[in-house]
Amino acid sequence: MRVIESKGYQSGFGNEFATEAIPGILPKGQNSPQRVAHGLYAEQLSGTAFTAPRHCNQRSWLYRIRPAAMHLPFKPKPHGTFHNRFDEAPPTPNQLRWDPWPMPSDLTDFVDGLVTLAGNGGPAEQAGCGIHIYAANSSMQGRFFYDADGELLIVPQQGRLHIATELGVLEVKPLEVAVIPRGVRFRVELLDGEARGYVAENFGALLRLPDLGPIGANSMALPRDFLAPHAAYEDVEGNFELINKFQGSLWTARIDHSPLDVVAWHGNYAPYKYDLTHFNTVGSISVDHPDPSIFTVLTSPSDTPGTANVDFVIFPPRWLVAEHTFRPPYFHRNVASEFMGLIEGVYDAKAGGFAPGGASLHNCMSGHGPDATSFEKASVADVSKPDHLTGTMAFMFETRKVIHPTKQALDAPQLQHDYYKCWQGIKKHFNPERA
Ligand SMILES: [Fe+2]
Repeated sequence: MRVIESKGYQSGFGNEFATEAIPGILPKGQNSPQRVAHGLYAEQLSGTAFTAPRHCNQRSWLYRIRPAAMHLPFKPKPHGTFHNRFDEAPPTPNQLRWDPWPMPSDLTDFVDGLVTLAGNGGPAEQAGCGIHIYAANSSMQGRFFYDADGELLIVPQQGRLHIATELGVLEVKPLEVAVIPRGVRFRVELLDGEARGYVAENFGALLRLPDLGPIGANSMALPRDFLAPHAAYEDVEGNFELINKFQGSLWTARIDHSPLDVVAWHGNYAPYKYDLTHFNTVGSISVDHPDPSIFTVLTSPSDTPGTANVDFVIFPPRWLVAEHTFRPPYFHRNVASEFMGLIEGVYDAKAGGFAPGGASLHNCMSGHGPDATSFEKASVADVSKPDHLTGTMAFMFETRKVIHPTKQALDAPQLQHDYYKCWQGIKKHFNPERA
């Protein structure tokens, strides 16, 4: 048994990385030589079609102890809460909000602790996203997972994760996010006993950095702040479980070795992480504020220009300086649908009820915005001076298609049946006689 841990990261978004846990493995001038050094097998992992345009073509070459094909047949694996059944309940136009998801009382690892709250599209049509929450109190032991249906954007809210993948190790903590590409096998260990967070399962085009347009070459998320792991491997034999999410359902197979046995790899299809506190937040320095798309960290484009399959948007600490302006997020309705979560602190459009670990959903054309208390406070605030929002990090999964909450999300005791009341106290101020 031999386990080589990786330390440190390679910097850049979608770069052609090259990394070796043992020097001298990567072939020179070719990808699949007749014999790979040290008796390793060469295997390509493609994240896009072979013929995808060069600027968005992603694949990596893995040099591993055993090929990925080597495991016993898969059998269906029931999972009570993690799925893609988005047709269980009619989609609702009502504004929805949930209290934080509770930690499990029984021993529960990352995979067992996944609960699907909502979603749209599906893996069969390769569009849309699944929206999940995880709450876990145990590391994955003797089991490995991969998602054949989409890439996983993991947003920790509580507790650090040690994510051991085929291509190396990512350690992420709250205020960081990790992306595990479709098909990459991994194991999640908890570093703080308990962990909770959110997951977007992207069935569509791979997440990428948004275009910057007139903003220019810099700002928002900087490519060099995205970190991919160095190669690491486990030469371990035993009786293990390989769990696969395939077309919305889980499958299980026995495997007699750790599949995290890639000793060297090169390519641009790799897991990565990003520290949200590095986001260079852009906003108004005169009046009004831009649409929240200015806070987009990553986007999965659709076939329609400018219309995302899913965007990952954050609301980080920032200065509010716009004059003559209602500074919190404005009242609005949106053709896209918005699922929000809160990592820490307070979201500036709500006086209460939206807690870290909680969630909200505002579907296509459903009106929402600041609650009555926040509106009254902000409409009389002194905007001749800046406001400094600190200690907060909310985020949004925004998608072009209506988000369907699952039956278990609608039946959950965390659902706030009185959420609509936060807007019922909004006063009528209209007076045609008053300026
Ligand atoms: Fe909104």
